Amino acid sequence: MTVNTCRICGSAVRPCLDLGRQPVSNAFPRPADAGAETFFQLAVGVCTGCTMVQQLDVLGAEHMFTPDYPYRSSTSAGLRGHFAEVAQWLRETELTGPDPLVVEIGSNDGVMLRSLARAGIRHLGVDPCVGAGETAARDGVRVRVGFFDERSAAVIRAGEGPAQVIFGANTISHVGDLGSIFHGAVRLLADDGVLVIEDRYLGDILAHTKFDQIYDEHVYLFAIRSVRAAAHTYGLELVDTEPLDMHGGAMRFVVARPGRRTPTARLARMLAEEDRMGLASPAVFDRFRAGLETIAKDLVGLLTDLRAGGSTVAGYGATSKSATVTNYCGIGPGLVPLVYDSTPEKQGRVTPGMHIPIVDAARFAEPYPDYALLFAWNHADEIIGRERAFRESGGRWILYVPDVHLV
Ligand code: TYD
Repeated sequence: MTVNTCRICGSAVRPCLDLGRQPVSNAFPRPADAGAETFFQLAVGVCTGCTMVQQLDVLGAEHMFTPDYPYRSSTSAGLRGHFAEVAQWLRETELTGPDPLVVEIGSNDGVMLRSLARAGIRHLGVDPCVGAGETAARDGVRVRVGFFDERSAAVIRAGEGPAQVIFGANTISHVGDLGSIFHGAVRLLADDGVLVIEDRYLGDILAHTKFDQIYDEHVYLFAIRSVRAAAHTYGLELVDTEPLDMHGGAMRFVVARPGRRTPTARLARMLAEEDRMGLASPAVFDRFRAGLETIAKDLVGLLTDLRAGGSTVAGYGATSKSATVTNYCGIGPGLVPLVYDSTPEKQGRVTPGMHIPIVDAARFAEPYPDYALLFAWNHADEIIGRERAFRESGGRWILYVPDVHLV
């Protein structure tokens, strides 16, 4: 359903970018089913009231977060390390009282909760994706299969008591009915508890033309001002923010019940910095649109020249982000004949919309392509480091944010 008023505050939404007809980014069809995907119009606008950047036409969560959802956070050593640190930080700061409870919204394969489970801390993951939850359960993580909302939060509170921490990484921006999450948090949170949200940050996306961070699941692109406004609308208060390296540029938002925590000086400083960037202004989005059009033209030009010159090219990382790049730019098997990926659930499938075959990343060297288009650029250090032999054998990586370049 296309909206022209803000899902959070009801003010008018000013359309600012249209990336065309796009498929569900994490639905990787079997080759025989290619062509039967669900598509939608990927366009975003800015709320003229609370400044929340949001998609205009949103797919229902049931289309995206299916029982066989293939994304696994633990495929990345970087993410494993990040979430181990998060667990440690929560243990040392928020979970020090008697028998605390931590609830994670979108616990995926248990990448964050598993170390808390191992430490004997009372926890519950909430996730609609059965397969990911089964993996988490094998690591001793308790998972409730389903979506987090006001109703499930009430059931959890009745069964387990209040939560000292509700945590959601790369999840909360995925839910069109943001109110259902916040109302659920209001129900479940202990009086002095915190809701910790980690998500991609609009400022980083705009500053580095990371246009492929815009795809179906990212219903909202969070900024500090807009998250602060949303928290206020739903009866909570943003009290701290901290930039994170996760996914190549993200932000942690700490939310509490009003008046329970003193907002930090860092929050005030970062909010002022953000206001200086003018994130909600039409000029910023005009620049972003011009930048991404240059990237699209340069990338298609480079791939076309390489293929015409007889070079071999492969993609690396069948990311959700790559759905936006390949479908927006029209990059199919003619330009990139296959994509390597380490996720067993994606191998043997084809990419959404453009139907590029996905092959086990363990076969990258059989033989190496001349060029590898790094769709998983957010894991560049990890992948380029591990695949050192590719460059040593003369291969070159193609990166496309903030501009098209070879490394
Ligand atoms: P990621 O960029 O984390 O997420 P998104 O889907 O949100 O854009 O996805 C990384 C993909 O790359 C994932 O399918 C796993 C794959 N991958 C590899 O194949 N090898 C690796 O070393 C890493 C880190 C990821």
